[in-house]
Amino acid sequence: NVVPVILSGGSGSRLWPKSRKAYPKQLHRLYGDATMLQHTVKRVDHLGAPIVVCNNDQRFMVADQLQETCGDASQIILEPIGRNTAPAIAVAAMRAVQQVGDNAIIVILAADHLIKDMPGFRATLDIAIKKATEGKLVTFGVVPTHPETGYGYIKAAEPLAGNTQGATVAEFVEKPNLETAQKYLAEGSYTWNSGMFVFPAKTLLEELTRLNAELVKQSQISLDKSEQDLDFIRLNEQAFAQCQDISIDNALMEHTNKAWVVPLNAGWSDLGSWQSLWESSDKDEYGNVVVGDAYMRNCTNSLIHSDGRLVAAIGLDDVVIIDSDDALLVVNKNKTQDVKHVVDWLKANN
Ligand code: GDD
Ligand code: MG
Repeated sequence: NVVPVILSGGSGSRLWPKSRKAYPKQLHRLYGDATMLQHTVKRVDHLGAPIVVCNNDQRFMVADQLQETCGDASQIILEPIGRNTAPAIAVAAMRAVQQVGDNAIIVILAADHLIKDMPGFRATLDIAIKKATEGKLVTFGVVPTHPETGYGYIKAAEPLAGNTQGATVAEFVEKPNLETAQKYLAEGSYTWNSGMFVFPAKTLLEELTRLNAELVKQSQISLDKSEQDLDFIRLNEQAFAQCQDISIDNALMEHTNKAWVVPLNAGWSDLGSWQSLWESSDKDEYGNVVVGDAYMRNCTNSLIHSDGRLVAAIGLDDVVIIDSDDALLVVNKNKTQDVKHVVDWLKANN
């Protein structure tokens, strides 16, 4: 009765120029021998084939990548427009109930995470599934290393150190400002929300109905009126468009008192920026990471990605160079969060 659900709808604008709206980061090979989506599928293949929720525009790329990894077994739900994660998760929960019944447990994974310790992750996932079976809305807490403002923060009701089973969530704060994030980090009792969840589908839908009845109602209509198109489940656009554009963190996790946090210590990272990709990659003795063809001399702590052309770099420290067919990015490694402004600028000027 456990159904993996993979969310693959984001566009990853901080990884421009590799990640584009039409070809977002989760569909790229950024590490290892598979795309991020395929790595995600493999992470939970012991639980069966997933339901993948993605944007209509990416359907063929997603289908091809799933075909390579798990044959025809997966299901792809297509969103006519992006409505953030809460409606996507609601629809997936409804679909899981149709498929395996009222006691369905959904394991929700983002398609764009890196998890280095697979056995460690699966052991923690088992604990989370057990807690979800007991009716908890389970999330995973990662020990924070810096005051990241792009994450959610979780305060557990009891200390998590040395506790593998987890605790009730006392407070959940999505994307605090820098000052608040610094305070949480100094306090020492907060963990980062990993962005993965394990929910009993029915409990999730009841709780979400209590908090946002219209969202659940329109999600249900969009699934009831969906069309089967080849292997795709195409959600009804009129209904889906009426769902509020809101994340599961804001819609549910910040408000529910059924949340439970299980500590995750398995080399998790959100490859959200070029800096985080550099941090998670194997480096040479000078701290450099090179993907593709590059000549480097007297460079340290830098990242070079080339899709084809040779990139030559001399005397650089802490620099990221990303060369692609139609754009070149050169950015200070400590400023890679700002790459999203390039994308905003492109949107405004094209
Ligand atoms: N299907 C679908 N539709 N998927 C979506 C949509 C959507 O409209 N929007 C986002 N996603 C997918 C993304 O592709 C990603 O895999 C996942 O849902 C999370 O979305 P992000 O946009 O990457 O969220 P975030 O990184 O800002 O924040 C979340 O993750 C953090 C950890 O990485 C939150 O859960 C934070 O609390 C958390 O700390
Ligand atoms: Mg993310």
